[in-house]
Amino acid sequence: MRSTFFSLLVVMLVGVAVPAHGSPQMKRKDGGSGGGNGNGNSGIPSVANAKNAACKPLYGARDAIMGGIYHGRCNDYARASVRLAFHDAGTYRTADGLKGGADGSMLTDPLEVQRGENNGLQSITAALQPLPAQFGLSPGDILHLAGVLGVMACPGGPTIKTYVGRAPPPLGYTAPDGRLPNPNSPVQKLTDDFAATGFSIRELMALIGAHSTGRQRFQDAATSGNPLDSTINIWDVRFYSETQNAMAAPGTFRLASDVNFAHNATTQKDYSRFVGNQDNWGQEYSAAHEKMSLLGFNKNTLTDCSEVLPLPIDLKNAYVTSSGKQPTDPAVDPAKLEALIQQYRSIWL
Ligand code: HEM
Ligand SMILES: *[C@@H]1O[C@H](CO)[C@@H](O)[C@H](O)[C@H]1NC(C)=O
Repeated sequence: MRSTFFSLLVVMLVGVAVPAHGSPQMKRKDGGSGGGNGNGNSGIPSVANAKNAACKPLYGARDAIMGGIYHGRCNDYARASVRLAFHDAGTYRTADGLKGGADGSMLTDPLEVQRGENNGLQSITAALQPLPAQFGLSPGDILHLAGVLGVMACPGGPTIKTYVGRAPPPLGYTAPDGRLPNPNSPVQKLTDDFAATGFSIRELMALIGAHSTGRQRFQDAATSGNPLDSTINIWDVRFYSETQNAMAAPGTFRLASDVNFAHNATTQKDYSRFVGNQDNWGQEYSAAHEKMSLLGFNKNTLTDCSEVLPLPIDLKNAYVTSSGKQPTDPAVDPAKLEALIQQYRSIWL
């Protein structure tokens, strides 16, 4: 509680000192929250203030994705890109060494995109495919930039460190089939597979919270398009509480795997950590997603280009109740939320 309050204070102080058109040094002293100081500044770093020359091409790519594809919002492309980041990298196993993983093969291998497990990812893939050539970046760099921006396009989504320098997948390389999780598999199989990819149960519990902004289209034909929680347009922890409840929230669809994680004796402790705990989830999700975006690569050979990222939108600034002790699952005021989007995603809307 105390540290939450402190980081909020830091955000406010840092926010007040922000110069016009946000220079990179103002970023994220708080490690993941921010936004909503109401000073009229977009906080979007500009290429004119680029710190690292190697990051310059990323600014254009950022605008093409965040503006041209997401229109600054948590739209269907944004949510699909988060799933795409997982489906690109999640075919990795630590036994593969420096091969495969977050290599962008979903943008270069038509056979991989056509797999049944990748149903629903064809539109986002097609939208991203021209960008590597257009901006002189590798498919992996574009795809994983899109994944991070997809999270940040959804209000509440944290900052996730962003890198460039991934080599393209070797010609003719195909990511191994049959490695992505099936929602009807037993918990043991799922946790084993994620362990083989390099993720602990705790990291897996943080990652599945990405379903907070997702829909299902191919699980249940009768309810195709239904969201996986009742607040599909924000990156919040409502997913965790609703999936844990005995009854599904009206109009939502729950994946069997998510429900199992919420109740299985081995996973439920790490799962429950995130119920009503937006800050904790944001931090742990961010670290796990960063790790996912680096699978198959040595971080030391890549360049950290997090300087291109906008400020995250902090849902605290949109809560209906914004002072005193927060309820565990505060509601968001749509008008306050829209004001934050207008301010912090301005150039892309
Ligand atoms: C046990 C692990 C997981 C299983 C079994 C699983 C399964 C699924 C399934 C079945 C869907 C619905 C697809 C459809 O019918 O359209 C889905 C959607 C989604 N998944 Fe997962 N998933 C898992 C982990 C993850 C992870 C680690 C991430 C990212 C960090 C992720 C991100 C998403 C997103 C964003 C969507 C919504 C996509 C959209 O609305 O277009 N999932 N997942
Ligand atoms: C719960 O998960 C553990 C670890 O993955 C597994 O061994 C166990 O069988 C699961 N329990 C049930 C009831 O599915």
